[in-house]
Amino acid sequence: MSTQMGTGTTGAPAGSKAEVATSSADGASRKKKVTVRTFQKMRDRGEAITMVTAYDFPTAELAEDSGIDSILVGDSLAMVILGHETTLSVTMDEMIHHAKAVRRGARTPLLVGDLPFMSYQVGPEDALRSAGRFLQEAGMDAVKLEGGRTVVPQVRAIVAAGIPVMGHIGLTPQSVHALGGWRVQGRSPEAASALLEDALALQAAGCFSIVLESVPTRLATAITERLDIPTIGIGAGPHTSGQVLVIHDLLGLFDRFQPKFVKRFALLGADARTALAAYRDEVVARTFPGPEHGYAMTDEAWAGFELETAGRGEEQRGEAQSGERNGTGRTNRTDTEGAGLDRGPDRSK
Ligand code: KIV
Repeated sequence: MSTQMGTGTTGAPAGSKAEVATSSADGASRKKKVTVRTFQKMRDRGEAITMVTAYDFPTAELAEDSGIDSILVGDSLAMVILGHETTLSVTMDEMIHHAKAVRRGARTPLLVGDLPFMSYQVGPEDALRSAGRFLQEAGMDAVKLEGGRTVVPQVRAIVAAGIPVMGHIGLTPQSVHALGGWRVQGRSPEAASALLEDALALQAAGCFSIVLESVPTRLATAITERLDIPTIGIGAGPHTSGQVLVIHDLLGLFDRFQPKFVKRFALLGADARTALAAYRDEVVARTFPGPEHGYAMTDEAWAGFELETAGRGEEQRGEAQSGERNGTGRTNRTDTEGAGLDRGPDRSK
């Protein structure tokens, strides 16, 4: 478990930000900005492309520091961040809000904004407007949308405007109701050839890459071999050009359910619960905060404070009592004096 941190090669705790940053000097920190051309070159050289979802500044920073090639601001945030049952509920405005935070945390990975449900289905004009928002307002480098031949007009419109598009076929979560649940796709001969047709149509429409989700390994391999552009697999076996996972799944932060294709590379959810329980126990036992967590005040300053405020408590008590006696409930203090006292001590020094 990730709580049992050893010491890394740099002397910093293994996995700590310092350790990762230094060890990534060989890779991540020297890495140049990843573009769609980098994707294509990596695919052509047979180098595996790494992609992960991120939804905010800290997850984007983690991906950046780990040398991940690409970040997907996925509509999966509807489930893992916002707690919805499906991805259908997240809006374009919410996606933009999260994408902006990701942009602030990531410099080198190729940033892909995931077009949410109903931001592109109505037609190419809607699709182009939504895609444009991801680049103009949130600083994304590309967009992703779900669907095969049916979304070709949308893909063409977005690509024609100079915006790179990533396709997504197989299990397309925005169609979860039409698909009858979270099911593996393309198992029958007809369904398999339909997926290949979809992939070829997306490539012809100008997609720079296609996500293959929950399809049999041999089908994903065949589609990858027949395409000239990179495929990114999730539940599609090891032979796609690259892999993507939801960051909450791989870090063990989402445990409502676990698809077969997920590997938990850490159990941060369990670690977080242990940490929170320890914090609660120490607060209750008054062992936290300790002296090392407090701020000092010199004896001289303390003596000055005592001198200045000596008798102030008694004064106030006396005023309050006289207020009670004269029946007004108010003390004899002026408003200005009262406001001064209410403001509390000056913390600006
Ligand atoms: O939204 C998402 O996270 C995705 C990936 C699972 C590919 O679309």
